[in-house]
Amino acid sequence: MPDEPSHPLLPDAVRRLREGRLVAFPTETVYGLAADALNPDAVQRVFNAKQRPANNPLIVHVADADMARPLVTSWPAEADLLARRFWPGPLTLVLPRSPLIPDLVTGKGPTVALRCPDHPIALALLRALNRPLVGPSANPSGFVSPTRAEHVVAAFAPDDVLVLDGGPCRVGIESTVLSLVHTPPRILRLGAISAHDIQSILNQPIDVAPPSTHTPDAPLPSPGLLQRHYAPRARVILFATSLPQAAPDNIVVLAHRAPRNTLASTRILQMPREADAYAARLYDALREADDLAPDAILVERPEDEGSLWDAIRDRLARASS
Ligand code: TXA
Ligand code: MG
Repeated sequence: MPDEPSHPLLPDAVRRLREGRLVAFPTETVYGLAADALNPDAVQRVFNAKQRPANNPLIVHVADADMARPLVTSWPAEADLLARRFWPGPLTLVLPRSPLIPDLVTGKGPTVALRCPDHPIALALLRALNRPLVGPSANPSGFVSPTRAEHVVAAFAPDDVLVLDGGPCRVGIESTVLSLVHTPPRILRLGAISAHDIQSILNQPIDVAPPSTHTPDAPLPSPGLLQRHYAPRARVILFATSLPQAAPDNIVVLAHRAPRNTLASTRILQMPREADAYAARLYDALREADDLAPDAILVERPEDEGSLWDAIRDRLARASS
């Protein structure tokens, strides 16, 4: 069978990336804003387009572990085990960077974050270009990550960013970020791959960085840990069971079902019961709510147990802080 291009715009996308320009690409987590990771001018365009602070390092996307190895000064056994088990997939590994990586990518830091995305279009793009790609979430800095091509199209000028539409993202929240330069290994951002998943492969305990201890003034170990992040324009307020008395009138509610004390005029977006479906829907629902221009978005805080729910609560906490 001849090799089918996985997207009609793939050749255009590769040409643009070779020219140092930007392409938004689908991944299993959220859409990324890609540029040639080894071209500092291209990487600078990503920071400009997102208005991202220069000290917030970018994740470098690779087609496989072979593409990752030259980008780090050491590829420990842990990296090998985890990449074999979870790549392609929503796990980002932080390792000591090699001199190949431009300073801009890492915010001048000594490490680089690497991930192999589990999406046929992302993988086809990486293979066709045969170079690593930076890929922060394709949204203005601090805003909700995009989980559909339309979200990206709405955020950037078409001349600046070519968008490869790969449909809605399957996972819907960003990858787990795991630092292998810490001992024991440390999760810097929760995601669909859990501490338990990682522990069972490494056969050793791992740490989870406490999210709330990092403030905007502190050095940025992983700015995805910033308290306010992943936030829509409207204020987000979390609630349990019934709406707070002090809530404004013009609100949109995200909940499993209508809270008892909703007004007739309250708009409700029903959220799924299962964690997978909830995560896949969350950012789209926050955007949908935001587009209704409410005074506030009220989100029922899910109480269910489970590591994906922990990752969801982490994003809700940041959206609401
Ligand atoms: O799922 C994802 O990871 C998506 C898709 C597009 O791959 N990308 C993504 O990128 O979420 P971004 O830039 O929005 O978030 C990257 C996170 C940030 O919190 C950043 O601070 C952290 O990873 N990070 C990047 N490089 C790092 C490093 N060297 N050390 C620690 N944290 C790092
Ligand atoms: Mg982001």
